[in-house]
Amino acid sequence: MHSVSMQGRQAPARRPLKKLAINGGYTLNGNIEISGSKNAALPMMAASILSDQDIVLHGIPDLADVRTMIILLESMGIEINKNHKDSLKFNASGVDSRFASYELVKTMRASIMVLGPLLAKYGEAKVSLPGGCAIGARPVDLHIEGLEKLGARIEIRDGYILASADRLIGSSYCFPKKSVTGTANILMAATLAEGQTEIVNAACEPEIVQLGELLNAMGAKIDGVGGDCIKIEGVENLVSAEIEIIPDRIEAITMIIAGIITQGELKIENIDPSHIERPIDLIRQCGAMLEISERSLFVKGPDQILPISFETEAYPGIPTDIQAQLMVLNSIANGDSKITETIFENRFMHVLELKRMGANISIDGSTAKISGVSRLNSAPVMATDLRASAALILAGLIAKGETVIDRIYHLDRGYESLEKKLSNIGAKVRRID
Ligand code: EPZ
Repeated sequence: MHSVSMQGRQAPARRPLKKLAINGGYTLNGNIEISGSKNAALPMMAASILSDQDIVLHGIPDLADVRTMIILLESMGIEINKNHKDSLKFNASGVDSRFASYELVKTMRASIMVLGPLLAKYGEAKVSLPGGCAIGARPVDLHIEGLEKLGARIEIRDGYILASADRLIGSSYCFPKKSVTGTANILMAATLAEGQTEIVNAACEPEIVQLGELLNAMGAKIDGVGGDCIKIEGVENLVSAEIEIIPDRIEAITMIIAGIITQGELKIENIDPSHIERPIDLIRQCGAMLEISERSLFVKGPDQILPISFETEAYPGIPTDIQAQLMVLNSIANGDSKITETIFENRFMHVLELKRMGANISIDGSTAKISGVSRLNSAPVMATDLRASAALILAGLIAKGETVIDRIYHLDRGYESLEKKLSNIGAKVRRID
């Protein structure tokens, strides 16, 4: 597998080291800079398909998932160039393929977000079904239902979505349940559909809001993004635009938790506090001191962590992507807590690994009950998905002894050089083969 440099050209494959070793018990102190949001970058990279002019994204995080999306878009004939440090310029005027292979889509489900743009701009697309992943079946039936509502003819054959449409026709589609990438797909498709589209029960995540901002900067006519009902007036074509990618709110919360559980003092920079209001309110209940500024946050861990019970919800509720990390905080809290996962059907894979490290957790359906223990112990553990791997790193930071985490490629999908950032503030973490 070739790794793709940020220049977009194929660099010689660089075999990533497989494991992380962490010596626990060190307090984290200092400043840490949050990277651009993976889940904002990926849909906006797909949105470049919709225009024949230059789309420039600033603040692109250097992640495996971003490199996969670069490979996918280049395979369709999109020209991608590094503008400067962390900016990429996309130009889709030379697209000569509307095909997204299983090889690429299976490594990153977000590839499904090229479906709507390809269909809207070229009237055809052949995109592999993503298949499931560790945290759940992850179907894309709502993406398909929404596009069919816009007039697409869609057939599933040999694991592929075969979609075609002379021209998409605006319509009203109500999501039976909120879907982030589902909303992104229909929103992008609707920008070039004929007439007006209404998306009801749309996802409200900040990443969707920024996608809407980029599309409007490209000449789309979108109202209501960020609310439950988005209205789109189709246009003939979209033009050039550029945007600065919002900070990664999930990385920000992950770092806040790292500061708290190691009883450190961290200044976390490049955040948008308005994207993490509910998580901050919840985390304050554990006794941590959090001082919010316009683009940064200071966190000081309490001597004694109080347990915080919650259930995951769609935005603006507590994001499912921080559930595993908050479970680590609860695992050493002074008391009992309950966490209910309402978004994915199998997002407790990290529980078994945390129990191996001495956490006292029992699962009852979609609820995990945690009784805090005084300390976790190091153990060889295995990452199962992106956010679970972050949780295991947090656990390793506080466990007695050296924790070795296997299958760390999960981490590289969504966190930009996390071990370097943590080492810079006092963590003893290194990659090993
Ligand atoms: C996005 O995934 C994020 N990924 C996920 O982040 C995040 O956990 C998730 O939203 C929920 O917030 C990206 O943005 C790239 P959904 P997505 O569609 O869009 C069901 C990470 O760690 N559903 O909002 O795939 C689905 O099974 C990743 O960065 C259908 O049934 O999630 C789930 O139960 C992990 N049919 C629920 O809806 C569909 O067609 C919400 O899923 C689509 C979804």
